[in-house]
Amino acid sequence: MTAKQFFIIADNLPPIAAEMSGLNIKLVPRQDKVMRWFLKNHVTAWKPMPTRVVQSKEDAVVAIDSSAAGQDQLRKGATVADSPRIGVIGRDSFGPTLSRVLFPAHLHDRARTDAATEEAEWRAVRNTRRIKEGKKTYVVVDTREDGSEQIVGYAQWETPESLPPASTGPKPADETEVDVPPPSLDQDALREAYRVMEVVTEQTLGKEGHSQMWYLMILGVDPTQKRRGIGKMLVKHGLEQAAREKRDAFLIATPEGKYLYSSLGFEQVGEQIALGDVPHYAMLWKRPREEEGGEVLLN
Ligand SMILES: CC(C)(COP(=O)(O)OP(=O)(O)OC[C@H]1O[C@@H](n2cnc3c(N)ncnc32)[C@H](O)[C@@H]1OP(=O)(O)O)[C@@H](O)C(=O)NCCC(=O)NCCS
Repeated sequence: MTAKQFFIIADNLPPIAAEMSGLNIKLVPRQDKVMRWFLKNHVTAWKPMPTRVVQSKEDAVVAIDSSAAGQDQLRKGATVADSPRIGVIGRDSFGPTLSRVLFPAHLHDRARTDAATEEAEWRAVRNTRRIKEGKKTYVVVDTREDGSEQIVGYAQWETPESLPPASTGPKPADETEVDVPPPSLDQDALREAYRVMEVVTEQTLGKEGHSQMWYLMILGVDPTQKRRGIGKMLVKHGLEQAAREKRDAFLIATPEGKYLYSSLGFEQVGEQIALGDVPHYAMLWKRPREEEGGEVLLN
């Protein structure tokens, strides 16, 4: 059996070094380029603990000092000032899945600036509009070594109270036309994605759809910050609010999201669906029923 390798990635090396003196442990600053590459490519699990412990595919263990700087905090109620950063995270996190379908390579030449910038800006505009419409938007903020803060993940929920009156309100599909579509966006693909989602929602939940539930419209985590519990923190917070309002929750998951949602008690409803060529899953979360002795708050 190969010996385990240990690495410590610390925001603040001296205290950690003192704690670990005498052990054969390699100390690496958190921003170290090689270590960032290692985390991205080789890490399979990352657990928030007193120090965050990471289990890698090579059976190495990496610990990240979270005792001082480098803490993640949930901020409830994002503002429109957060939209540019949210747009970037949305673009980067969905790059391998839905973004590939909505911003296909063959339209990149049509971009006025470059397609990546256009996508981030378009996502930012959508985010701002949705915040103004009252969609619940939460962000997780990471405090960095120099004390500056950066948003590392966000979640946006449509709740029954944020829905427009049935007679006048736009259907989700109308969102396609609301925000000025950039040239690199495949509008037909977006319309088709909304159409499929509407059909699936009606098939699984009936005519009422998710109008009486908390509906997770989008969840994205900075790809360099995955598996640190950020996504879970965001979804859990929404579910706690939903439970307080005695609401269930619904979403349409990417394959990656499905793992996270299953771990929080969501169950797949209906068959796998495709948005473009990306498989997706309708998932339902039922709040703990008090009459069944269920806890309202999640672990
Ligand atoms: C899906 C996503 C939001 C998860 O965010 P995250 O911060 O990395 O997730 P967490 O660290 O909170 O994961 C919590 C748990 O979910 C499960 N999980 C999350 N990502 C997983 C993956 N890629 N493979 C297997 N399990 C995974 C694990 O059980 C994990 O707990 P563990 O790390 O203790 O094992 C993130 O990967 C992402 O932004 N993906 C791209 C965009 C996307 O697909 N969003 C979902 C739209 S429906």
